[in-house]
Amino acid sequence: MKKITIQTLQELKERNEPFAVLTAYDATFSRLMDDANVEVILVGDSLGMVIQGHDSTVPVTLEDMCYHIKNVKRGVNRSLIIGDLPYMSYATPEQTYINATRIMQSGANMVKLEGGQWLTDTVKGLTERGIPVCAHLGLTPQSVDALGGFKVQGRDDKTAKQLLEDAQALQNAGAKLLVLECVPSTLAKQVTESLTIPTIGIGAGADCDAQVLVLQDMLGLNTQFKPKFVKNFMAEVHGDIKAAIELFVSEVKARNFPGDEHSFK
Ligand code: KIV
Repeated sequence: MKKITIQTLQELKERNEPFAVLTAYDATFSRLMDDANVEVILVGDSLGMVIQGHDSTVPVTLEDMCYHIKNVKRGVNRSLIIGDLPYMSYATPEQTYINATRIMQSGANMVKLEGGQWLTDTVKGLTERGIPVCAHLGLTPQSVDALGGFKVQGRDDKTAKQLLEDAQALQNAGAKLLVLECVPSTLAKQVTESLTIPTIGIGAGADCDAQVLVLQDMLGLNTQFKPKFVKNFMAEVHGDIKAAIELFVSEVKARNFPGDEHSFK
């Protein structure tokens, strides 16, 4: 099996073939995902909520991220691994270079950070130094307190225009992937069509180049949190985790997931 690279993902976008992304935090699940042909495994700072039990991603530290990335890495042969830079670990470009080095040396192939145009120097600096970047726009959970909660973003003309401009600026700075979280489907479609790099949607409709869900959500294990964009894949396969992951991959590739019922207007 050939290893998935950023170039593989770029080619999939160019061929209009959607790819699958899931979060994982340990080797057991990353191995299952690798075997199921999940192209990208995201070691997300969502671990603060689904592993550590916090009510946001804010408490997650760089040490937490490195520990989980190392575990995930041991289960992976083929998938590309993205590691989140946690809260306030990329406030300045210099700080980011040091912390991104730790994420990469723990086993990630790429780092992810949340935010718009204020990050262009950081993204450019990382890219020039050979560290690939996945950007993240829309609902950026590390800013939950500033946003006033986990809310859909980009619903009015002003914020939609800002998001389009941010996406373009991040691509121009060198970002190789862009996560779009909780934005109206029409806006996600516009962003996806306006960029040459692949977009990865979560609550962003069916027109993104890839789809991501948090593992515990798509397995229906998170009883406290069931947002509209989540589908419980395990419910359809009688509690078989491996089959649920395979079903997610096949539904994403066939563009059967997400449906309108999982998307925002
Ligand atoms: O931390 C995470 O898992 C994420 C996804 C929700 C995209 O950023």
